[in-house]
Amino acid sequence: MTFSEIPVIAIDGPSATGKGTLAASLAAHMRFHLLDSGALYRILGLAVARAGVSLDEPETIAQFARNLDIKFGLHGPGSVALDGEDVSLMIRTDLGSDMASKVGSIPAAREALLDRQLEFRQSPGLVADGRDMGTVVFPDASVKFFLTASIEARAKRRYKQLLDKGIDAIFPTLLRELAQRDARDQNRSVSPMQPADDAIVIDTTELNRDEVMARVVKGVAVALQRKR
Ligand code: DC
Repeated sequence: MTFSEIPVIAIDGPSATGKGTLAASLAAHMRFHLLDSGALYRILGLAVARAGVSLDEPETIAQFARNLDIKFGLHGPGSVALDGEDVSLMIRTDLGSDMASKVGSIPAAREALLDRQLEFRQSPGLVADGRDMGTVVFPDASVKFFLTASIEARAKRRYKQLLDKGIDAIFPTLLRELAQRDARDQNRSVSPMQPADDAIVIDTTELNRDEVMARVVKGVAVALQRKR
């Protein structure tokens, strides 16, 4: 199979739409590789914060992005390591989300992370989760989904996730922060978060996980059949 023949399923959309869970379940279902591109931005944000690099130094940040030692699965399934250290929980904190969104708005950082993302396209296929998978990183994806949900539904999901993990959260603050990050992700000059023209948009506000998965599996089957 040549590089361009390896099927890619792109799943884009804002956070707390159920994208991450869906992408992981779909990858397991299809026995495909999984790219959690948000984790790359989160790790870069963490590395930049730890090194005390200013966000006004795009070239230094891009250099960091090219040299990051990132390993997925080193400390167990779904884990993420930076320089061998398990940072799976640390990158999911509010600070991690904020830094990821900030480094994600730097064009040189996005450019530097591009090759790393392309490396995940390996046989028999890839499920790619992010904001610009279908528009920029894998514009030739076999099938593209864009998940949305009302901001209240997303804030509720995030609130529950945090409480389940034993992390304190304040609902109105979560809501405000989600809105801020959405605005930053949608309005940045490079790769703004938006559905690809050929994306299937799914509003998950009123749907549970199984219902979203069923729709996506159906969409994938139809798209892959059509390509044959
Ligand atoms: O998917 P996530 O919540 O883990 O992403 C965290 C941040 O990373 C998000 O606010 C913006 C950035 N990001 C991005 O700019 N491009 C991607 N493909 C994935 C994430």
